[in-house]
Amino acid sequence: MNRTNDLLQLLSTQHPIVQAPMVGVSTPQLAAAVSNAGALGSIGQIASDASQSRAMIQATRALTRNPFDVNLFCHRPAVSDSAREAAWLAHLAPRFAEFGAGPRPFLAEVYRSFLNSEDMLEMLLREQPAVVSFHFGLPDASWIRALRVAGLATLACVTTPEEAMQAAQAGVDAVIAQGSEAGGHRGVFDLPMIGTSAPSP
Ligand SMILES: Cc1cc2nc3c(=O)[nH]c(=O)nc-3n(C[C@H](O)[C@H](O)[C@H](O)COP(=O)(O)O)c2cc1C
Repeated sequence: MNRTNDLLQLLSTQHPIVQAPMVGVSTPQLAAAVSNAGALGSIGQIASDASQSRAMIQATRALTRNPFDVNLFCHRPAVSDSAREAAWLAHLAPRFAEFGAGPRPFLAEVYRSFLNSEDMLEMLLREQPAVVSFHFGLPDASWIRALRVAGLATLACVTTPEEAMQAAQAGVDAVIAQGSEAGGHRGVFDLPMIGTSAPSP
Protein backbone atom coordinates (compact mmCIF):
# COMPACT_ATOMS: atom_id res chain seq x y z
CA MET A 1 0.00 0.00 0.00
CA ASN A 2 1.38 3.44 -0.91
CA ARG A 3 0.21 6.06 1.59
CA THR A 4 1.75 8.96 -0.37
CA ASN A 5 -0.31 8.03 -3.42
CA ASP A 6 -3.40 7.66 -1.21
CA LEU A 7 -2.85 11.20 0.05
CA LEU A 8 -2.20 12.63 -3.42
CA GLN A 9 -5.38 10.97 -4.64
CA LEU A 10 -7.39 12.28 -1.68
CA LEU A 11 -6.14 15.85 -2.09
CA SER A 12 -5.81 15.76 -5.89
CA THR A 13 -2.39 17.41 -5.61
CA GLN A 14 0.95 16.75 -7.26
CA HIS A 15 3.00 16.90 -4.04
CA PRO A 16 2.23 15.53 -0.53
CA ILE A 17 2.63 18.98 1.04
CA VAL A 18 0.00 21.03 2.89
CA GLN A 19 0.67 24.72 3.51
CA ALA A 20 0.14 25.49 7.21
CA PRO A 21 -3.08 27.45 7.64
CA MET A 22 -2.36 30.74 9.42
CA VAL A 23 -5.25 33.04 10.12
CA GLY A 24 -4.47 36.60 9.05
CA VAL A 25 -1.34 35.43 7.23
CA SER A 26 -2.52 32.69 4.86
CA THR A 27 -4.21 34.90 2.28
CA PRO A 28 -5.94 33.74 -0.92
CA GLN A 29 -2.79 34.89 -2.78
CA LEU A 30 -0.52 32.66 -0.67
CA ALA A 31 -2.88 29.67 -0.80
CA ALA A 32 -3.31 30.01 -4.57
CA ALA A 33 0.45 30.27 -5.14
CA VAL A 34 0.98 27.05 -3.15
CA SER A 35 -1.85 25.25 -4.97
CA ASN A 36 -0.57 26.47 -8.33
CA ALA A 37 2.83 24.98 -7.42
CA GLY A 38 1.18 21.56 -6.98
CA ALA A 39 0.85 21.38 -3.18
CA LEU A 40 -2.25 22.15 -1.08
CA GLY A 41 -2.70 25.82 -0.19
CA SER A 42 -4.75 26.71 2.90
CA ILE A 43 -6.83 29.69 3.95
CA GLY A 44 -7.43 30.19 7.69
CA GLN A 45 -11.08 31.06 8.35
CA ILE A 46 -11.41 31.28 12.09
CA ALA A 47 -11.72 35.04 12.25
CA SER A 48 -14.29 35.10 9.41
CA ASP A 49 -18.05 34.67 9.38
CA ALA A 50 -19.71 32.60 6.65
CA SER A 51 -20.01 35.45 4.16
CA GLN A 52 -16.42 36.66 4.67
CA SER A 53 -15.31 33.06 4.30
CA ARG A 54 -17.30 32.67 1.06
CA ALA A 55 -15.58 35.79 -0.28
CA MET A 56 -12.14 34.36 0.57
CA ILE A 57 -12.98 31.04 -1.09
CA GLN A 58 -14.11 32.86 -4.22
CA ALA A 59 -11.00 35.08 -4.18
CA THR A 60 -8.80 31.97 -3.97
CA ARG A 61 -10.76 30.28 -6.78
CA ALA A 62 -10.16 33.32 -8.96
CA LEU A 63 -6.40 32.73 -8.58
CA THR A 64 -6.18 28.94 -8.91
CA ARG A 65 -8.10 26.10 -10.49
CA ASN A 66 -6.31 23.65 -8.18
CA PRO A 67 -7.64 22.28 -4.89
CA PHE A 68 -7.09 24.24 -1.66
CA ASP A 69 -7.93 23.78 2.00
CA VAL A 70 -10.38 25.83 4.07
CA ASN A 71 -9.25 25.70 7.70
CA LEU A 72 -11.59 25.97 10.71
CA PHE A 73 -11.13 25.96 14.48
CA CYS A 74 -13.28 23.49 16.46
CA HIS A 75 -12.64 24.61 20.03
CA ARG A 76 -15.46 24.64 22.58
CA PRO A 77 -17.35 27.89 21.93
CA ALA A 78 -16.99 30.55 24.63
CA VAL A 79 -19.86 30.80 27.11
CA SER A 80 -20.77 34.35 28.03
CA ASP A 81 -20.38 35.18 31.75
CA SER A 82 -20.96 38.87 32.40
CA ALA A 83 -19.58 38.88 35.99
CA ARG A 84 -16.37 37.16 34.96
CA GLU A 85 -15.97 39.39 31.89
CA ALA A 86 -16.51 42.53 33.99
CA ALA A 87 -13.81 41.32 36.41
CA TRP A 88 -11.36 40.78 33.54
CA LEU A 89 -12.14 44.18 32.05
CA ALA A 90 -11.52 45.82 35.45
CA HIS A 91 -8.29 43.85 35.83
CA LEU A 92 -7.08 44.86 32.35
CA ALA A 93 -8.21 48.52 32.52
CA PRO A 94 -4.80 49.82 33.71
CA ARG A 95 -3.12 47.99 30.79
CA PHE A 96 -5.50 49.52 28.25
CA ALA A 97 -4.86 52.94 29.81
CA GLU A 98 -1.09 52.38 29.69
CA PHE A 99 -1.32 51.98 25.91
CA GLY A 100 -3.89 54.77 25.46
CA ALA A 101 -6.61 52.31 24.40
CA GLY A 102 -9.33 53.64 26.72
CA PRO A 103 -11.82 51.45 28.59
CA ARG A 104 -13.33 48.50 26.69
CA PRO A 105 -17.13 48.13 26.90
CA PHE A 106 -17.13 44.33 26.43
CA LEU A 107 -14.97 41.31 25.56
CA ALA A 108 -15.42 39.99 22.02
CA GLU A 109 -14.80 36.43 20.84
CA VAL A 110 -12.19 36.93 18.11
CA TYR A 111 -11.77 33.33 17.02
CA ARG A 112 -15.04 31.68 16.05
CA SER A 113 -15.63 27.98 16.55
CA PHE A 114 -17.03 25.95 13.66
CA LEU A 115 -18.90 23.84 16.25
CA ASN A 116 -21.77 26.31 16.60
CA SER A 117 -21.64 27.78 13.10
CA GLU A 118 -24.31 26.08 11.03
CA ASP A 119 -24.23 28.91 8.52
CA MET A 120 -20.54 28.13 7.90
CA LEU A 121 -21.43 24.48 7.28
CA GLU A 122 -24.18 25.47 4.83
CA MET A 123 -21.83 27.84 3.02
CA LEU A 124 -19.19 25.07 2.69
CA LEU A 125 -21.77 22.63 1.37
CA ARG A 126 -22.77 25.20 -1.25
CA GLU A 127 -19.28 26.43 -2.20
CA GLN A 128 -17.68 22.96 -2.05
CA PRO A 129 -13.97 23.76 -1.64
CA ALA A 130 -11.93 20.58 -2.28
CA VAL A 131 -10.65 20.23 1.30
CA VAL A 132 -11.72 21.36 4.78
CA SER A 133 -9.38 20.99 7.78
CA PHE A 134 -10.10 21.13 11.51
CA HIS A 135 -7.84 22.47 14.28
CA PHE A 136 -8.29 22.29 18.09
CA GLY A 137 -11.02 19.65 17.88
CA LEU A 138 -13.59 18.00 15.66
CA PRO A 139 -17.10 18.86 14.53
CA ASP A 140 -19.95 16.42 15.02
CA ALA A 141 -19.63 13.24 12.93
CA SER A 142 -22.89 14.13 11.12
CA TRP A 143 -21.29 17.39 9.85
CA ILE A 144 -18.19 15.49 8.68
CA ARG A 145 -20.49 13.01 6.90
CA ALA A 146 -22.40 15.86 5.23
CA LEU A 147 -19.12 17.37 3.96
CA ARG A 148 -17.99 13.99 2.65
CA VAL A 149 -21.32 13.35 0.90
CA ALA A 150 -20.93 16.76 -0.79
CA GLY A 151 -17.52 15.59 -2.10
CA LEU A 152 -15.22 17.54 0.24
CA ALA A 153 -12.15 15.83 1.73
CA THR A 154 -11.63 16.41 5.46
CA LEU A 155 -8.39 16.67 7.45
CA ALA A 156 -7.94 17.01 11.22
CA CYS A 157 -4.89 18.23 13.10
CA VAL A 158 -4.08 15.77 15.93
CA THR A 159 -1.29 15.69 18.49
CA THR A 160 -1.71 12.25 20.14
CA PRO A 161 -2.78 8.73 19.07
CA GLU A 162 -5.98 9.22 21.13
CA GLU A 163 -6.91 12.34 19.17
CA ALA A 164 -6.12 10.47 15.94
CA MET A 165 -8.53 7.69 17.00
CA GLN A 166 -11.24 10.27 17.74
CA ALA A 167 -10.68 11.81 14.30
CA ALA A 168 -10.83 8.42 12.56
CA GLN A 169 -14.00 7.48 14.46
CA ALA A 170 -15.60 10.80 13.55
CA GLY A 171 -14.95 9.95 9.89
CA VAL A 172 -12.22 12.38 8.76
CA ASP A 173 -10.32 11.26 5.68
CA ALA A 174 -6.77 11.95 6.94
CA VAL A 175 -5.03 13.34 10.00
CA ILE A 176 -2.25 15.92 10.23
CA ALA A 177 -0.01 14.45 12.96
CA GLN A 178 1.54 17.44 14.72
CA GLY A 179 4.37 16.89 17.21
CA SER A 180 5.39 18.89 20.24
CA GLU A 181 8.24 20.24 18.07
CA ALA A 182 5.75 22.43 16.15
CA GLY A 183 7.09 25.97 15.96
CA GLY A 184 3.74 27.80 15.90
CA HIS A 185 0.78 26.91 18.12
CA ARG A 186 -0.30 23.28 18.18
CA GLY A 187 -3.79 21.90 17.58
CA VAL A 188 -3.89 19.90 20.82
CA PHE A 189 -7.38 19.15 22.10
CA ASP A 190 -7.03 16.13 24.34
CA LEU A 191 -3.58 15.37 25.78
CA PRO A 192 -0.25 17.26 25.80
CA MET A 193 3.25 16.99 24.32
CA ILE A 194 4.08 13.97 22.18
CA GLY A 195 6.84 14.47 19.61
CA THR A 196 7.01 13.20 16.04
CA SER A 197 10.85 13.04 15.84
CA ALA A 198 11.96 9.53 16.82
CA PRO A 199 14.97 9.53 19.21
CA SER A 200 18.29 8.35 17.70
CA PRO A 201 19.03 4.67 18.47
C1 LIG B 1 0.78 33.19 12.94
C2 LIG B 1 0.23 31.79 12.96
C3 LIG B 1 -1.12 31.60 12.72
C4 LIG B 1 -1.64 30.31 12.73
N1 LIG B 1 -2.98 30.13 12.45
C5 LIG B 1 -3.46 28.87 12.32
C6 LIG B 1 -4.79 28.66 11.88
O1 LIG B 1 -5.56 29.59 11.61
N2 LIG B 1 -5.21 27.38 11.75
C7 LIG B 1 -4.40 26.30 12.02
O2 LIG B 1 -4.85 25.16 11.86
N3 LIG B 1 -3.14 26.48 12.44
C8 LIG B 1 -2.65 27.73 12.58
N4 LIG B 1 -1.35 27.91 12.94
C9 LIG B 1 -0.49 26.72 13.18
C10 LIG B 1 0.26 26.37 11.89
O3 LIG B 1 -0.64 25.99 10.87
C11 LIG B 1 1.21 25.18 12.13
O4 LIG B 1 0.48 24.02 12.40
C12 LIG B 1 2.13 25.44 13.29
O5 LIG B 1 2.71 26.72 13.18
C13 LIG B 1 3.24 24.36 13.34
O6 LIG B 1 4.03 24.38 12.20
P1 LIG B 1 5.53 25.01 12.24
O7 LIG B 1 6.34 24.08 13.11
O8 LIG B 1 5.98 24.99 10.81
O9 LIG B 1 5.40 26.39 12.82
C14 LIG B 1 -0.79 29.20 12.98
C15 LIG B 1 0.57 29.41 13.21
C16 LIG B 1 1.08 30.68 13.20
C17 LIG B 1 2.57 30.85 13.44
